[in-house]
Amino acid sequence: MSSSTGLTFADTPSLLVDLDKMEANLKEMADVAADAGVALRPHVKTHKSPELARLQLEYGAAGITVAKIGEAEVMADAGITDIRIAYPIVGQAKLGRLGRLLRSADVSVSLDSAEVAEGLSNLGQRMSRRIPILLKVNTGLDRVGSLPGQESLRLAEQIGALPGIELVGLLTHEGHALRSRSREEAKERAVRAGEAIVQTAELLRGSGFNIREVSVGSTPTPRDNAHVSGVTEIRPGTYIFNDLNEMTIGVATEATVALTVLATVVSIPADDRAIIDAGSKTLSSDGLVPAPDSGFGYIRGHPDIRIDHLTEEHGILALDAARDRLKIGQQLEIIPNHVCPVVNLADVMYGMRQGRLEREIAVLARGKNR
Ligand SMILES: Cc1ncc(COP(=O)(O)O)c(C=O)c1O
Repeated sequence: MSSSTGLTFADTPSLLVDLDKMEANLKEMADVAADAGVALRPHVKTHKSPELARLQLEYGAAGITVAKIGEAEVMADAGITDIRIAYPIVGQAKLGRLGRLLRSADVSVSLDSAEVAEGLSNLGQRMSRRIPILLKVNTGLDRVGSLPGQESLRLAEQIGALPGIELVGLLTHEGHALRSRSREEAKERAVRAGEAIVQTAELLRGSGFNIREVSVGSTPTPRDNAHVSGVTEIRPGTYIFNDLNEMTIGVATEATVALTVLATVVSIPADDRAIIDAGSKTLSSDGLVPAPDSGFGYIRGHPDIRIDHLTEEHGILALDAARDRLKIGQQLEIIPNHVCPVVNLADVMYGMRQGRLEREIAVLARGKNR
C-alpha cells in the first residue's frame, strides 16, 4: 500500500528521515554559524542518536548540547567528548554520575542558583578540578534563569568565588520566539534576547568576571541573532528535522521538513471520521506552539484533514466523506507538531534516500530523562 505522497513502508507507525533534506538542514545551519563567526553546538535532544550527533560534528559543530546526564552518558559512550549540559544538576545521584562523566568527557553545566553551584563546587573540589559553569539567563521564556542585568550579576557574585567551579559564560534559550504571532515578532525576540545576554556579559566583565562564552539558541532564532555582536555560540536542536512548529513560525517549509511519521488508516467507522495507528504514544500530545488548537500534525497531501485528537494508540481524523477519500490500509505521511518528543517515543528512525531505505538510525538516548 502506498501513501498519498508515494512512499511505501512495510510497517507503521514509522519515523522516516529524508536523509537528503536532513543533510541540507545540517549544512544550512553550519553555514549560519560560519557566516556569523560563532560556534555551533546543536542540542541533541531532538534526535537522541550518537550517529546523528557525529554527523553534526562532521558538518562543523564544535560540540553538543544535552539536557540530561543520561543523554550525555550515551553520547560520551559513543566517543563524543565536548558536551554542554544545559540543565541544573540537582542531587547526589546526579552529581555522582556527572563525576564519572567528567573522567571521559569535557563537560560544562548551566545553572541559575547558588544551591546548584555549591553542589558542583563540592564535586569539583573532590575531583581537584574546576567544572566550567555557564549562568542561565532568562531572556523571555520565563522557564529557568536569572534575569538579565543586575540579577545575573548578583548570582555571579554569589558563586564566582566558589572553589571547584569556574564561571566561563552565559547561556540563554530564547524558546519564547516560537510563541510569536509572526516571523517578524520572532525575529525581534531573537535579537532582543541576543542583545540582553551580550549586555549582561559586558556587565559581568565590568565587575571582573572572565566571561568567554555567550551562548544563545533555538531553531527559530540563529538566523536573526547569531550575528548580534558578542554572541559566541548557537545551540539549535530541532533544525536537523524541522517540524510543524517551525513551518508555522516561518523558518521551515514542507520541503525542509526531514522527518515524517508514516501511519496507516486502520478504521473508518463513520463518514466524518477515520482512525490511524498513530496516537499520543507516537505523535506525542504536544500541541502546535504558535497556533494552539490546530490539531496534532499535518497530513501531507491532505491539508483539509484534521488530526483532531489522540488517544494512546489511535489518531482520530476529522474529515468529510471519509469513506470516499480514504481506504483502510492506506498510509498517510504526517509532519508532527513537535518532532523532539516524537523521536523520544521511537526505538529507530528509518533513513530514506529518494524513497528507499538506506539505513536504520537507532534512537539510543530515547527515554534518557534522568
Ligand atoms: C537549553 C536549550 N538550548 C537549545 C534548545 C534547542 O531549541 P530548539 O528546539 O528550538 O531547536 C533547547 C530546546 O528545548 C533548550 O532547552
